Amino acid sequence: MEIPLYFYQAYRDLDRLSPGSEDTTLKAIDKIDININDELYVLDIACGVGTSTIQLAKYFENAEIEAFDLFKHYIVSLDEKIAENALEDRVFSSVGDMKDPDFANEEFDIVFCEASVEIMGFKRALDEWRRLLKPNGYMVISDVSWISRPSGESVKFWKNIYDEVDTIENKIKQIESAGYEFIDYVIVPKRDWNNYYQKLEKNLNSLSGDKSAKDFVKQLKKEMDFYRNHSDDYSYVFYVMKKC
Ligand SMILES: C[S@@+](CC[C@H](N)C(=O)[O-])C[C@H]1O[C@@H](n2cnc3c(N)ncnc32)[C@H](O)[C@@H]1O
Repeated sequence: MEIPLYFYQAYRDLDRLSPGSEDTTLKAIDKIDININDELYVLDIACGVGTSTIQLAKYFENAEIEAFDLFKHYIVSLDEKIAENALEDRVFSSVGDMKDPDFANEEFDIVFCEASVEIMGFKRALDEWRRLLKPNGYMVISDVSWISRPSGESVKFWKNIYDEVDTIENKIKQIESAGYEFIDYVIVPKRDWNNYYQKLEKNLNSLSGDKSAKDFVKQLKKEMDFYRNHSDDYSYVFYVMKKC
């Protein structure tokens, strides 16, 4: 797939490709009831530039981490971080598709996926990624969810982008129906969205002279404005669950 240059410029030097922070990721992974000193095997699906991958490696200090993303470009960024942190002996990167993860059944103690599951859909991911977990393994997935009764505008907006946006209550029901024990959830706070959008907006402004980027920039700015006006309605929510 040919990716236009402006796309790289828009996300240049961002330490993550979605609203989030070390603090929020920590709150989510801290809900996993496991001995963090064990020799765990952890999978980060659609890792992007790998900031959370490195955080997982530092938190689970004896774990081996596998991280993959569809785009080689991001894996190159992760590889740089692996080298900077001298984690080559236990953090492994690859190019892969979340719709067909190239790993055996029951390999992982923890499967983690941040801000990406909408690419294939939450319900499908719950069903298809379950096989990757060892019995009693944990899954941590963040997904866009209603955090209060949404306005009609938000419902209409998201219907066109991702029709699985749902209440936290309904997401929990989906988790339980798919055969997991629901453990807890963590809402990605407004601060994380605002920090992320501030950095992204700066990059987008630097593209103002690029005519080929006009529609792309317009669409992203529309999404940012929409969030700023409807931030009480939705957020990413991390769901922590256990395979039973
Ligand atoms: C919004 S970004 C989130 C990245 C990272 N988890 C983060 O929070 O910064 C979504 C990621 O999904 C990746 N992606 C898109 N389609 C994919 C697929 N089919 N399989 C694996 N990764 C995919 C993109 O390349 C991108 O890195």
